[in-house]
Amino acid sequence: MPQTNKKRILSGIQPSGRPHLGNYLGAMRQHIEMQKDFECFLFIADLHALTTVHDAKQMQSNTYDLAVSYLALGLDPEKTVFFKQSDVPEHTELFWIFDCLVKMPFLERAHAWKDAKAKGKKEESVGLFNYPVLQAADILLYQPDLVPVGKDQKQHIEMSRDIATTFNTTFGETFKIPEPFIKDEVAVVPGTDGQKMSKSYNNTIDIFAEENELKKQVMSIVTDSTPLEEPKDPKKCNVFNLYKLLATKEEIKDLESKYKKGGFGYGDAKKTLLAKILEYFKEAREKYKTIYPQKEMIYDILGNGSRKAKILASKTLTEVKTKVGYITR
Ligand code: ADP
Ligand code: TRP
Repeated sequence: MPQTNKKRILSGIQPSGRPHLGNYLGAMRQHIEMQKDFECFLFIADLHALTTVHDAKQMQSNTYDLAVSYLALGLDPEKTVFFKQSDVPEHTELFWIFDCLVKMPFLERAHAWKDAKAKGKKEESVGLFNYPVLQAADILLYQPDLVPVGKDQKQHIEMSRDIATTFNTTFGETFKIPEPFIKDEVAVVPGTDGQKMSKSYNNTIDIFAEENELKKQVMSIVTDSTPLEEPKDPKKCNVFNLYKLLATKEEIKDLESKYKKGGFGYGDAKKTLLAKILEYFKEAREKYKTIYPQKEMIYDILGNGSRKAKILASKTLTEVKTKVGYITR
């Protein structure tokens, strides 16, 4: 088990497709970096993913892919308790208890729900409506100090805090109120079309895509029509904005001056970005290929993780059950 004198972090990520630069810079990189200084819990949110993925093979391969990706990117299972949400049934048990405290108008304010409504989707599942309640259960079960996520998850963390407070005032002090941990400089990573990079917008740059596919994705980044010879404003360019997130200070300065000088086209900038991505993820991409076939090892890591997670989750759940008046022995 991780050391207990450190602050605890917890986060989850849905296995809803291949991880992209937005996932990495907005969330995964922090999860991995924080292993050094925090007691870490990280899970694959496969229960949440069922709100959108309704194909067993897809669910399995997304889950496996995400596990391999994290390990390839440097997640150390000795330092981080790494598990699948569906392996720890305490999540769904606490979810129901919270469901009986949370009011409908509270959930109607959730951005994800409002977006679904705004898009005219009338027949969303109850699971999508309830999504923030399950997320609150995920978080509060582990009593973390911090929840490192991308900016789009801020409201979910705030809702978890509200749910913790509601429980604490109704049944007595039980849950620690967690803080979101959001890195401002990478709050929203732009996609190839300039909107937020997201699997649902088809504008992603996938870290582990084959090189020719990665090239296609980078080359498809939308730029303006400033001719090659003219100076360009790097700040307005998506290629530069992505490069900035991976490159060193000197490399950024260097590219910035090329933009400003002129005689440097967007095609050149894209090639520079592609080379940077390949260099930055070189080791991870190799490791990904090596460990992908090692199924037993991957399943063992997740199995061990769920056993460790369960120890803490069941401790909190037992306390909750006692507080609400269930007889527990
Ligand atoms: P997607 O929008 O591609 O479906 P998820 O919702 O599964 O991504 O997000 C997983 C994690 O990655 C979350 O913590 C989220 O905040 C972060 N994230 C996703 N896209 C971005 C982005 N474009 N910029 C910053 N963080 C992001
Ligand atoms: N909703 C998060 C996302 O889409 C995933 C998630 C589920 C999560 N449970 C969590 C993140 C608990 C942090 C903590 O990215």
